[in-house]
Amino acid sequence: MVSKRDIKDQHTDLKKEITYHNDKYHVDDSPEISDREYDLLFKKLKDLESKHPFLDVSDSPTNQVGGVKLSELKAFVHELPMLSLDNAFDEQDLFDFEKRNLNKLKDSVLFDYIVEPKIDGIAISLLYEDGVLIKAGTRGDGAVGEDVTHNVLTIKGIPTKLNSKNTKIPKKIEIRGEIFVKISDFKSLNNTFKKSNQKVFANPRNFVAGSVRQLDSSIASRRPLNIYCHSVGFISEGSFFETQVDMVKTFQGWGLPTSDDCKLCKNIEEVNSYVSHLTRKRDGLDYEIDGIVIKVNDKSLQNMLGASSRSPRWAIAKKFAAEEGESKIISISFQMGRTGALTPVANLEPVKIGGVTISNATLHNMDEVKRLDVRQNDYVKIIRAGDVIPKVTAVLINERKAAAKKVLPPSHCPTCKEPISFFESNTPMLDCNKLKTTDRKCFGFSQFKETLKHFVSRNAMDIEGLGQRTIDVFVEIGILKSVTDLYKLSKSQIIDLEGFASKSTEKLLDSINSSLTTDLHRFVYALGIKEIGLETSKNLSKYFTNLNSIQAAKYDDFIQVDDVGEVAATNLENFFSNIDNKKIINEFLKLGLNLKYQNKSKASHLTNKVIVITGKLSQYSREDLKGQLELMGAKVTNSVSAKTDFLIAGEDSGSKLSKANKLNIKIISDENLESFINKT
Ligand code: IVH
Repeated sequence: MVSKRDIKDQHTDLKKEITYHNDKYHVDDSPEISDREYDLLFKKLKDLESKHPFLDVSDSPTNQVGGVKLSELKAFVHELPMLSLDNAFDEQDLFDFEKRNLNKLKDSVLFDYIVEPKIDGIAISLLYEDGVLIKAGTRGDGAVGEDVTHNVLTIKGIPTKLNSKNTKIPKKIEIRGEIFVKISDFKSLNNTFKKSNQKVFANPRNFVAGSVRQLDSSIASRRPLNIYCHSVGFISEGSFFETQVDMVKTFQGWGLPTSDDCKLCKNIEEVNSYVSHLTRKRDGLDYEIDGIVIKVNDKSLQNMLGASSRSPRWAIAKKFAAEEGESKIISISFQMGRTGALTPVANLEPVKIGGVTISNATLHNMDEVKRLDVRQNDYVKIIRAGDVIPKVTAVLINERKAAAKKVLPPSHCPTCKEPISFFESNTPMLDCNKLKTTDRKCFGFSQFKETLKHFVSRNAMDIEGLGQRTIDVFVEIGILKSVTDLYKLSKSQIIDLEGFASKSTEKLLDSINSSLTTDLHRFVYALGIKEIGLETSKNLSKYFTNLNSIQAAKYDDFIQVDDVGEVAATNLENFFSNIDNKKIINEFLKLGLNLKYQNKSKASHLTNKVIVITGKLSQYSREDLKGQLELMGAKVTNSVSAKTDFLIAGEDSGSKLSKANKLNIKIISDENLESFINKT
């Protein structure tokens, strides 16, 4: 048993260790451990303290705001707090930012924006009175920072007197900006430091902090520091600037450096495309940026929007660095897909990336595992791009411990003992009767369950009430051994199962039975043939018009169909010539499969019209409405552009509605939908 004394000793050691690293980071600007290692230490301390309330926490880093030890520098009290910026992680967040602002202003005000790089340096406040620099301070906690006037006065790019030749100067103005070092300067200086055994800096930001936050100004004076000015804090004259662009130009006139990469954008779409442009340009910039700042251009609108206690409502930072994270691989497991491909998956210690907690990341396939040389217990880099499944991009090889273990894919299924190649077919498993085990952990069962999940999904047979959990149970108790078994289920088999009652059982059986009457393309898609997605299934349906012709087709026929390449044509031929699949399709027909083929679209008032659907509709599901409009000759697309003829906007329509409004696109409401379709 661990004694109280041991726990106290462990606590004291941890406190000391963290205080040491706090000083290294905040005072010396020279961290010795990664942010993640620091976070882990901190978590260990917090866990220990919450488990053992007798510990003395009065001097613990967990008890200090931000864990920051104040330096010897004088305090700098900000006249107005230096706020933070809210974060956006994708295009949708930017559309939502605009929507929130439009709502707040309760008016269809057309915004234009200024878009700027978010410089990763040290935030600074410069106080000018009658055009003369009198004080400079760091951000600190936003309310109180450190007085670094003596160092700022040595930075060549910062004018000690504003140039008032062409522009009037306010009595008192607080200019805000970011001090940074060019990456090229940082690299060459660090090299020199290394050669002469001097302290080397971890990154450009630490270098800047280590130069600006010094008592001795001779250090800063020897360092190549730069500034970009981006905003105003306190100003004695109320409405001095009309727009943000006006402010940037005035700064330039006064001799204050601003970034060359600022751009005025006319609307949020232009913002998004400039954000993409800057993101691509990021690696080519000679200064580090950790995001892109988007600001409402008009100052009177900025004032109307105001700020929360944390951040202004008129600006937002599109972040990219947060989309990359690091974590430890607890284990590597293998996931079976419906076509029998085994995908290695890294099970991670949970980590927040771009605001989302990630605990799994794909390793794609064994070639990728080999290429990265990734092992169990390794620390890895993970990237999360938008809604795509997070993936492991690299191993932090310097942090590899002896416990790191290579993982091989199973050569045989651990439960049914079948060689794994048995599952690597190109077709889904529509029937699991051939499996030699009833153990639900068998890879074969996983594959069959995946096939079923796809078969019942919304764009396929669209069976309601058959979620993953229910499928698992039905397969595990043996009432589903083949996809066709779905249509043989009886009320008595289901009603006593957990989560089912008489009504829900009937509803499920109704949904199953009515799914037998469906579109040809839905059935083809439901079969889950590798490479055959929804659009290809629609093309197959249009080309062949009936199931018989599809079954009789050969490679040379399939290859004629739009969208069908060599691999897809081979998969189709293999699938439909396979004797087991033929049997299954015959069984479907015996069960009453009734496939509709929609004839070519008819000429109507919607022929060739481009339509976008958004929001919730009371009478239609999205897919049904899309199908109906396509039948009438319309083209249904996903995003609003100048080419869009109509936007059908249901309840809770978001950015698409505001965009369509701006582009003067005709909006069809849920109420008017019926008369729009029927032209009444
Ligand atoms: S505008 C928040 N523009 O980002 C009030 N800030 O999270 C308006 N930063 O420490 C700030 N580049 O120093 C603005 N182009 C830019 C910026 C920028 C870097 C820093 C800023 C502050 C932090 C806010």
